[in-house]
Amino acid sequence: MPARARQRTAARPAARAAAPPRWPSPHILGLQDAKPNDIRALLRLALRCEPHARPGAKPLTALTGRTVANLFLEDSTRTRLSFTLAARRLSAITLDLTTNASSVNKGESLHDTAKTLVAMGADAIVIRHASAGAALLLTREVDACILNAGDGRHEHPTQGLLDAFAIGEAFSRLKSLDFSGIRVAIIGDLANSRVARSDIAALTALGASVICAGPKPLAPDEFRALGCDLTHDPDEALEGAHAVQMLRVQTERAAAVGSLKEYADAWQLTPERAGRLRKGAIVMHPGPMNRGVEIHPSVADSARARMERQVALGVPVRMACLLAAFHAKKLIPASALKP
Ligand code: NCD
Repeated sequence: MPARARQRTAARPAARAAAPPRWPSPHILGLQDAKPNDIRALLRLALRCEPHARPGAKPLTALTGRTVANLFLEDSTRTRLSFTLAARRLSAITLDLTTNASSVNKGESLHDTAKTLVAMGADAIVIRHASAGAALLLTREVDACILNAGDGRHEHPTQGLLDAFAIGEAFSRLKSLDFSGIRVAIIGDLANSRVARSDIAALTALGASVICAGPKPLAPDEFRALGCDLTHDPDEALEGAHAVQMLRVQTERAAAVGSLKEYADAWQLTPERAGRLRKGAIVMHPGPMNRGVEIHPSVADSARARMERQVALGVPVRMACLLAAFHAKKLIPASALKP
């Protein structure tokens, strides 16, 4: 065989085997526009990171000498700490900037703050902001990987991924990443929830069916366009579901919720309501929980509750997101994607 032809036949299958789907962008802004295989690529990577996120695990060295800056301009406990831990478990240097949103003059000062972080050497900025599109805006203003940690009511992609991971783990679908036949209910304040939007995107991409439920003012018809069913009856959503994600009533965003007592009477996940779920079903909440409002304390503390697992899984998911973004920006080699 002539050398050229030999080269061609040998190169083709090797090239194919060497190119598993990878997150294509140095930014992680949302899941609604992502291809299912790109979402799978992040979850596969998260699965590889998971043993390295456990207590006592030796930190990976993929991001040694790199800097990850948290720029949180809205309150957060879980997401901020989890991104910090994820970056440190990859041996990055972390910077943590939390500013009271009211003191930030959005347009110019956001731009200036981000420029300052990059001038100090930040390779990645993790941003939480009250305005939808803030993360996208930053991608145009600074030369760094941008990771969206929640922008207004728009998206919270790492939460969507960790929720999908928790469901995949509970129903042994992490290997296949095929969620067909799994039914997930998302209940509560949908209108104000970036978590719901990212959850729907991740879960439907993997083939799950999603039914959303909320009181009419908090569950607008537009949600159907995201690829889920919509009802205004909590029991209908819960009936036979494998998993339920309860959403917090976002009093800081929702003007017209009415009294929390009325809301709790009509919408709280009580033990009786949870009885409608299928056997083996799990109960989830992105946190922070309002016990006694959207969820009854005994359900929150029941064996079905997966809230602590959700929190724990946030770390490997964010490790995967950092690795994928750094690799797409050509700051780390492909070998770093096989921890
Ligand atoms: C959520 C958020 O901030 O979007 N929390 C979180 O990130 N774990 C949901 C909420 O605030 O209700």
